[in-house]
Amino acid sequence: MTEAKLEAWLEETRSFPPSEEFAKQANAQPSIYEEAAADPIAYWRTQADRLTWTKAPTKTLEWDLPFAKWFSDGTLNASYNCVDRHVEAGKGDKVAYHWVGDAEGESRTITYGELQKMVAKAANALSELGVKSGDRVAVYMPMIPEAIVTMLAVVRLGAVHSVIFAGFSAESLSSRILDSDCQVVVTADGAFRRGAAAPLKPAVDEALKSCPNVRAVLVVQRTKGDVEWVEGRDHWWHDIVDKQADTHAPESFDAEHTMLIMYTSGTTAKPKGIFHTTGGYLTQAATTYYNIFDVKPDTDVCWTAADIGWITGHSYIVYGPLINGVTSVMYEGLPDSGGRDRWWRIIEENKVSILYTAPTTIRTLMKWGHQHPASKDLSSLRLLGTVGEPINPEAWMWYREHVGGNRCPIVDTWWQTETGAIMISPLPGITATKPGAAMKALPGIMVDVVDNEGNSVGNGEGGYLVVTHPWPSMTRGIYGDPERFKETYWARFPGLYFAGDGAKKDEDGDLWLLGRIDDVMNISGHRLSTTEVEHALVGYPAVAEAAVVGASDPTTGQAIVAFVTLKLSAEDAEKDQTATIEALRDHVAKVISPIAKPRQIILTPELPKTRSGKIMRRLLRDVAENRPLGDVTTLTDPTVVNSIADLMSKGDGTEE
Ligand code: WT7
Repeated sequence: MTEAKLEAWLEETRSFPPSEEFAKQANAQPSIYEEAAADPIAYWRTQADRLTWTKAPTKTLEWDLPFAKWFSDGTLNASYNCVDRHVEAGKGDKVAYHWVGDAEGESRTITYGELQKMVAKAANALSELGVKSGDRVAVYMPMIPEAIVTMLAVVRLGAVHSVIFAGFSAESLSSRILDSDCQVVVTADGAFRRGAAAPLKPAVDEALKSCPNVRAVLVVQRTKGDVEWVEGRDHWWHDIVDKQADTHAPESFDAEHTMLIMYTSGTTAKPKGIFHTTGGYLTQAATTYYNIFDVKPDTDVCWTAADIGWITGHSYIVYGPLINGVTSVMYEGLPDSGGRDRWWRIIEENKVSILYTAPTTIRTLMKWGHQHPASKDLSSLRLLGTVGEPINPEAWMWYREHVGGNRCPIVDTWWQTETGAIMISPLPGITATKPGAAMKALPGIMVDVVDNEGNSVGNGEGGYLVVTHPWPSMTRGIYGDPERFKETYWARFPGLYFAGDGAKKDEDGDLWLLGRIDDVMNISGHRLSTTEVEHALVGYPAVAEAAVVGASDPTTGQAIVAFVTLKLSAEDAEKDQTATIEALRDHVAKVISPIAKPRQIILTPELPKTRSGKIMRRLLRDVAENRPLGDVTTLTDPTVVNSIADLMSKGDGTEE
């Protein structure tokens, strides 16, 4: 469909009714909404029965705003719930993961029985390295099975994993290790990306120069590259893990025992250590996976195409699928490792039935052309999901038609690192879908859209997305900083959780997410704050001042545009412009990550400022998105912004 045709169609029909065929076999039946609405607390208590508890909880919710406890007198072991209980139920031979390597033909199949042994060995090894309940373990790993094994082994011991995306720099890594005082790091010598080995261990070595409390580093040998070795601190996985006994008795922990920390960008330069506890997090990961993805453990093959370095990977590659005992695909490579049809081959070869990915990936695959999906047998697919940013209707329609063969329901799922699991989504077979809308809060989840004063808006109106009642997998806070937790999420509207997203209720009352309304950007589904990037830029010696905005981008959703003034004389700057811009880009990659590299850097002698000296970001956003400029009357010098707009439109400072 062309964009014009699509618009006409949206105007006219606007929605796809739920498939009757799907509804007949769906895990979730329409009565689920009434059941949950009648007694949300009882509903969640029933959902907790998806887990095996050593001591079943008698309490459900204790709410002391903004601090919630769920199932607090229950005890359980997360890793036992993911692995052992399936083996005990006779499913030891069932495949837990089809691992697909970056390289053509490299794959591993791991059954639940094998996973149990791998986890036991890793847990024994971590114990030998002194890891015990409550300790924090940093995980900085490529997409290999050992990453999942490590996560499961850590939580098995009651320790806390802090998985740090392997694309983050040494500096980002060290600040995260320090913030939660991790004492053990699990990593690999390197990772494969499109056939090339990218080293990881050097970043760990660099990071640890400023982390004296890290006493052990466990290293998986993946790329067999040369590594530096610190005797006494560094241990090869194959030396320490392989020799261990392959059984390990799981201990029970309280439902509110901290299980994981995941750092995410806020509106300041310092990332927030969002932490989750065991019982509530696992309950909601399990329920959402069961109802939204409609998983059938005996037949489905589920592929969440995300990285374990993000919350999507935690909840829907690891915990949600394992709790439900399904078979998953884990893919190491990039969408075009081994060719632009690689994704479709993975689906065909593994008979993937449930696919979950981000709009930015869909748009990239779309750009490569539908001849690629058309050349493969995708008939195994029966449900498609999307997450991470608002999906544009054109990408939604392409996904539906060229990937889902017009037969697979699409679930557009809204959630956040903080929410732990999905909050807003259609339920397949029940909810009609509209391209671009996440539609409805899940059963047991209560959200609203409110105006500036916190009043609920009517249908057809927009405002701020809030959650009005606690939910099991809500973050229990920011690690070590309860004040920041209160300020960030609970201060904007008293008593309501402020998500930071704009949203709209359409005429039918269905929800459309409109993106962040704070200084948080969404770059290819990666969350980054403007302040964080500005901070990195001003850390470069020649930079005097920097302002960063997120500008809409056809592929990455948003892209970073930076406006920078240099300390050099104008003449010097002129001479070295291209080199300076390149150096700045590399500097940001080094300080944060390559994903934070600005798409465009505009060097300007001045930034537009108000008379009180505040940078007018609103105008810079207008400039970055090629919009007519808003009100410029409060500026000290209105010509500044015009000359910036000029540079911008010439494409100055754009990466080649
Ligand atoms: C932010 C959270 C949750 C896993 C991935 C991102 C945006 C997420 C949607 C969606 C529109 C979405 C929001 C949210 N977002 N899903 N379906 N429609 N926007 O996790 O890094 O914590 O980012 O992603 O802006 O606040 P995250």
